[in-house]
Order: sequence, then structure tokens, then C-alpha cells
Amino acid sequence: MAFFSRRRVQVPKVDLEDLPRHVAIIMDGNGRWAKGRGLPRKAGHAAGAETFRTIATFAKELGLEYLTVYAFSTENWKRPADEVSSIMTLLEKYLHEAIETMARDKVKMAFWGDLAPLAPHLRALCRETEEISKQYDGCQVNICLNYGGRDELVRAAKAFALDCVEGHADPGHLTEEAFSGYLYSAGVPAPDLVIRPSGELRLSNFLLWQAAYAEFYVTDVLWPDFSKEDLLRALAAYQSRSRRYGGI
Ligand code: FPP
Repeated sequence: MAFFSRRRVQVPKVDLEDLPRHVAIIMDGNGRWAKGRGLPRKAGHAAGAETFRTIATFAKELGLEYLTVYAFSTENWKRPADEVSSIMTLLEKYLHEAIETMARDKVKMAFWGDLAPLAPHLRALCRETEEISKQYDGCQVNICLNYGGRDELVRAAKAFALDCVEGHADPGHLTEEAFSGYLYSAGVPAPDLVIRPSGELRLSNFLLWQAAYAEFYVTDVLWPDFSKEDLLRALAAYQSRSRRYGGI
């Protein structure tokens, strides 16, 4: 049994042979982090993007198979235009770097969400990143971008209905597994653990279908301050839970 623990910081032991396959994170608290420092909100998002880099790299090193992050929701368009634009610019910068280092990192990347409203160059960059990285299978990082759980379910229902109209599917034979195939997450196991930093106790339209039996871990730490040790704490908490899936 392999254990991971850090010397100086108090972190519970994590069994590396019993990791969740799929961890999902709501990257929350960037605005409050910036406000606490008297900085503009975009500085919080920039710090959050750095945290994302650190945590994605660490997730890969630990051996997690899937990491899904909530980068921009279908509701986030309500924010001031300059804040939206700063998040998109950070993503663009990150994707350019990711493409450069992909051969070394061997991370597979996917985007979950409706990319149609994005600027054409960003949309093309997302598709290019997916295309280049599809050969890799080290760790799959899913970035939820213009993503909403309800929107995803409505889209899936429409796609299924269309298949029925065209004679490719039959409502009488629809199963949960078959319906999952219409979601952005098709082929990816459901998240085992959903982490929400910043102390908020809500799902915020994130992975509504997929998180049905996920374990939740909430911490008051704001996303830009979320460290490798915080991820280890979340994993240790996960390993202390008993998952019963409605059984006993
Ligand atoms: C929520 O915090 C965060 C967001 C809506 C944006 C998340 C974006 C990033 C971390 C940067 C870009 C991402 C990648 C993958 C490079 P909030 O602004 O709602 O925080 P608050 O609740 O404290 O105001």
C-alpha cells in the first residue's frame, strides 16, 4: 500500500492505490481572494488560473484518471464584459501553453459546454487542443466552459428526441447508460468526488446528472489559495467515507 504524506504541513495520509478515478472541482472564490487584497477581480482569476495549473499537474502526478473543472458557466455571461473577457484571455493563454507542453505532459483535454458563443479564435483553439491531445491518456482534464448542467440535459434530451424521430433510437428502450451517451461526459465515468472551495454549499448547476452519487468536499479555502495539501486533504476525506449508493 503506497501512502503520500508531506512532512512540514499537517496532511492526512492518502492511499495512492485507492484514489477516486474522477475528481471534479468548482473553482470558486477568485473574486473574494482579489477583494481581500484590494485587487481587481481579474487578478483573482489570474491567480485562480495558476492554481488550476498547479492542481492539474499534481492530479496527474498522483495518478488521477480524470479531473473536471468548472471554468465558466452558462450563467457567468451576466458578469461585466471586462471580467468575462479576462477569463477568456486567461483560458486562451493557458491553452497556448498547454499545446506547447502537451507532448511532455501527455494530458488529454476536453471541453464540456456549448462553445458556439465563444470568439471564433478561442473556439478553434479549444478544438485544436482537443484534437492534438486525444492521442494522450495520462490524465484527462475536462474544462467546463459555457457549461450548465440543465443546459446539458436539455441538449441531451433534444439529441435523443432527434434520434427517435430519425428512427435511430426508441424511447421505450432508453436506459440511464444510453442517456449518459448524449451528455458532454459521454464515455467518462461519473465523478467520485466533487470539491468546492470558498465555503459555498451549493452545486451551482455543475454536473447535475453526473454528480448523483459523488462525495462532496467543501473547504473555506478560496480557490487561488487551494494547494496540493488541500487536494490531499480532500482525497483523505474521500477515503474515509463509506459509499453506499443507496444500499446499506
Ligand atoms: C468563480 O469564482 C470562478 C470563475 C467564474 C472563473 C474561473 C476561472 C479561472 C480559474 C481562470 C481560467 C481557467 C482556466 C482553466 C485556465 P468567483 O469569481 O465567482 O469568486 P467569488 O465568488 O469570490 O466572487
